[in-house]
Amino acid sequence: MVRRLEQGADQEEIRKAGATAAVVDASFSVAEGETFVVMGLSGSGKSTLIRMINGLLTPSAGHVYVDDEEITGMPPKALRDVRQQRMSMVFQHFALLPHRTVLDNAGYGLRIKGMDNAEIDKHAREALAMVGLEGWEQRYPQQLSGGMRQRVGLARALAAQTDVLLMDEAFSALDPLIKREMQDQLLSLNARLGKTIIFITHDLNEAMRLGDRIAVMRAGRIVQIGTSEQILNEPADDYVARFVQDVDRSRVLTAASICEECTALKADVSPDEALSMMHRHDTDRLFVSDGGRRLLGMLSAADCEQALRDGHSVVREAVVAVDDPVDGSTPMNALFARMSRHPVPLPVIDDEQRLVGVITPGKVFEALSREPHAESVGAPAAVKEASVSDV
Ligand SMILES: Nc1ncnc2c1ncn2[C@@H]1O[C@H](COP(=O)(O)OP(=O)(O)OP(=O)(O)O)[C@@H](O)[C@H]1O
Ligand SMILES: [Mg+2]
Repeated sequence: MVRRLEQGADQEEIRKAGATAAVVDASFSVAEGETFVVMGLSGSGKSTLIRMINGLLTPSAGHVYVDDEEITGMPPKALRDVRQQRMSMVFQHFALLPHRTVLDNAGYGLRIKGMDNAEIDKHAREALAMVGLEGWEQRYPQQLSGGMRQRVGLARALAAQTDVLLMDEAFSALDPLIKREMQDQLLSLNARLGKTIIFITHDLNEAMRLGDRIAVMRAGRIVQIGTSEQILNEPADDYVARFVQDVDRSRVLTAASICEECTALKADVSPDEALSMMHRHDTDRLFVSDGGRRLLGMLSAADCEQALRDGHSVVREAVVAVDDPVDGSTPMNALFARMSRHPVPLPVIDDEQRLVGVITPGKVFEALSREPHAESVGAPAAVKEASVSDV
């Protein structure tokens, strides 16, 4: 069967031959600390994929590595150790034991590992506190809401203190509001814990909120791997394009991805040079950066003229600080209010305060209105990496 698939047979042909090819072609590696989302419709092979990653299923072809260790074909005992020491799983239907307390449920994985009771207790309590369930330790699962039960499931995985979390549709059974809360909680928890997460979902919005990268699966194959923005702006084929067509682009696109190239003055140019630069760029103000491209502020033509009159040799002292530059990771929908208050382009900075570009209304409208289409693979103008040229 594997040979027939390699020769291009599709799932239907294999099915006719009496077998199921659940996962056909899925190659990727996940970086330490990354949240990698696998997204696809029901039956696309997501659960099968995750079960191969944790060794519950052995692939009929291909390899799975955890760090440098190949787990494909590992003897059962070694495999069990990898599963217990290296990764924890969070399930869709929580998989809680109904007759055990919340505390026992959270410590369940540790008990299987054979840890002593006092240790289990400590780790389970800590994990429950992390997910906001302090005070609920002695309750039973049926006394909890769905969201709380999933928190217990998450606490159980956290208590095991593994570096890798595997989450298969972990939030899919939850009501939309609770689901969102859980997503927020996972994001903020993991900002602190830095775990490597493989998160399976059929919900594109969830994928885009959580994933550093997203793999889109269709009929057992990964058809595209990329960041939310890449998937949105450069869908690999029509299937992905149709998938993303209803996404609220303003929530996914970030300031850094839609900003426009801009020219920044260096602080040590003379007022004369600055004025002629403005003249050449047909503007009456420019942003100013230091030698390392860090944003210092803005300079207007009027300030320049004043600096000339005051006899300054460089513009540095005339620079006016910018109140609140936009962080590059800000979603576009958080910019609208600010743009309405600011008549001038908003400067966008990166983690190191470096100017990466400016937000203009034109760019925002362009990014919002772009129809995703598969043909134009390659970065479109609106999302091409902005650059700042220093003068
Ligand atoms: N043990 C099995 N025996 C036979 N076929 C299977 C088995 N497990 C899964 N399949 C089939 O493999 C395909 C992929 O299933 P899988 O459960 O991996 O999909 P999924 O993407 O997780 O779907 P869902 O979103 O419904 O959970 C499906 O066609 C399914 O019917
Ligand atoms: Mg599944």
